[in-house]
Order: sequence, then structure tokens, then C-alpha cells
Amino acid sequence: MTDVQAEPLAAPGQVNAKIFPFPLNAWYVAAWDHEVTSKKPLARTVAGQPMALYRTADGRPVALADACWHRLAPLSMGKLVGRDGIQCPYHGLQYNSAGRCTKMPAQETVNPSALVTSYPVEQRYRYVWVWPGDPLLADPASIPDMHQMDSPEWAGDGLTIEAPCNYQLVLDNLMDLTHEEFVHHSSIGQEELSESDFTTRREADGSVTVTRWIRDVTPPPFWLKNIRDRFPGFEGRVDRWQIIHYYAPSTICIDVGVAPTGTGAPEGDRSQGVNGYVMNTITPETERSSHYFWAFMRNYRLDSQLITTQLREGVHGVFGEDEAMLAAQQRAIDANPGKEFYSLNIDAGGMWVRRILDEMLRAEGRA
Ligand code: FES
Ligand SMILES: [Fe+2]
Repeated sequence: MTDVQAEPLAAPGQVNAKIFPFPLNAWYVAAWDHEVTSKKPLARTVAGQPMALYRTADGRPVALADACWHRLAPLSMGKLVGRDGIQCPYHGLQYNSAGRCTKMPAQETVNPSALVTSYPVEQRYRYVWVWPGDPLLADPASIPDMHQMDSPEWAGDGLTIEAPCNYQLVLDNLMDLTHEEFVHHSSIGQEELSESDFTTRREADGSVTVTRWIRDVTPPPFWLKNIRDRFPGFEGRVDRWQIIHYYAPSTICIDVGVAPTGTGAPEGDRSQGVNGYVMNTITPETERSSHYFWAFMRNYRLDSQLITTQLREGVHGVFGEDEAMLAAQQRAIDANPGKEFYSLNIDAGGMWVRRILDEMLRAEGRA
């Protein structure tokens, strides 16, 4: 019933790993843009590396290693000084945004080897992105396309989940949405989900697309509300779509929506329906914890703050169900170190993700 173009499920390397290592040569979201300020530093760990994030006086985001050169006190506990600097909270050493020590209060001369790492940083799509790996490889062109986040044609908002699990478990969760039927049965789940066909493709640009159409069904509560926001009083059956786009290493943008059955949405005319984009980017914090940044964007009723807030709160509730499941899954994984993962048809998209991450880790000499 399903057109699966993925490779065999049992593949060599780390693809079946339960605790998946994370690539370092990659852009990861460290924070929402509004979290990084020129008032005080923000502490955040990205890919196992504690960072102190702040903005210079002219608004440029900075990410420094969060350990002073002197005795490793966290710079994030210090204060911002001058136009682009930060002062260690312990003995007052000051660093500029390049990570170079510019002042040692207790002596006249500054030791020239006094440095902390300054990570490549980019601000894009309402996020601050950092590159924890080899800075010479940090090409901003490889930041995944999340243009819906700040396009005038889309509106919406999101939040962060501090997920107590390996980042790969979140990716698995988002690459297979049949779990909605079981985890989210009161909001977006419906039994036709697992019965509907899907296709999985690796695209020429390296991304992976999983496409699923669920045709001629009763809209579940979340989607009935959305279509009534645009077409008040709507009644009837819909065609529903979920088109998952994965961009390595850990960004997943999901084109979702419903349109009245028979109005041509599967053929490309979505004008009678409602369309959203679920934007997800997952930043490994440690092997067993992840910063999961999400937003729900829509392309209708753009000026309604009420709808923006209702959607954010609604999705927040739905994603809370995922968070509880992921936390429980991680606990069970840790309690069963001798057990393996097995893969089903529904894991085709997730297996592509694992293979692509495995390739990235090999390129770094870490697989
Ligand atoms: S630990 Fe930072 S100045 Fe001493
Ligand atoms: Fe979910």
C-alpha cells in the first residue's frame, strides 16, 4: 500500500543507534532572536558546547565559549562591557566579541594567549544560529530554508521545548506522523492517517520529502477550527495533506492543511482550504537533551493576533504530548541498554535522516 523508496532498514554504521551522535559541522539554532540581548548574556549549550550569547551595542549576536581562559568561570554569569565585550564574573577579565582578552584588571599587560572560542553566528528567520564545528567550514548558505518564519506572506509564532531526549528521537517523531493517531487523538489525530499511502524521496538538493494525502475524511478538531477561521460555518469532508521536508542535520518544515474534498487540493489548487507550515529545528544540547524550537505559521487571516495566539497555544498543547512521550521513550531506552531498535514501513523517512546524519558524522571522522 505504500510506495517506499528507502533503502533496506538494517544498514551499517550508526543508523540504528539509540543515542545518536550529533554532527558538529552544522548550523544549529541557539536561541530565538529576542532571547539574545545587549543587556545580559544568555547561557546555552549547543552540541555539547556551553556558550555565552549576547549582542554587541550595534545589535550583532555573539557566541563565546562559556568558560573564562583564566579559571574557567562561566562568562554567561558576567556582564556586558563596552561596545562588544563581556567581563568574567570572577576576577574581571574582559573579552571582546572575537573572544580575545582585552583587559586583566590585576595587571598592566594582557597575556596574548588569553582567548576563548568565538563561534560563527548568523541571525536568520527569527533565530540566532551558531556553528559549533570547524569555523572554516561555516558557510551561511547552508542554513536551511525557513523563510516562512519572517515572510510577509505568513504569520505565526512558536515556543521552545526543552526535550529530555536525544535529538534523533525528535527527528524520528516528526518524520513519521502516524503517531498523531495515538498520541494526539483528541486534536489532530485520525485513524485514516495510518491507512493512507505515503511516499519518501531524497531530493536533488539533499533534503528528504515524505508526502502523505489523507483524502475525503472528516476534519479532526484542530483542522475544523482552522478551516472555520477562514470559512466560517464550514461543514463537510476534506482532503488533508502532510508534506514533510527534512534539511540536514535537524530542521523539519511540514506543509500541512486541509481543503474541502473535490476542490482540487491534491492537484494543486488549495484556494478553498487552509495551509500551515509547522517549522521545527532541533538543537542537540547533550546526548540526552535537546532544544526543540518550533513555530506554526499560516498563510491566511494574517492580521489576526487572536488566531496566532490560539494556534500557538493549541500546538503547544499538542507538542506537550510529544514531549511526554519522548521523555518516557528516552527513560525506557536508558533502562534497556541491551535492546535494539527495529524499523517499520512508517520509519522510511526517519531512516533517511539517520543515513544522512551518519554520512555527516563519517565526513567528520566520527562514525
Ligand atoms: S576565572 Fe575569569 S577572571 Fe578568573
Ligand atoms: Fe506529535
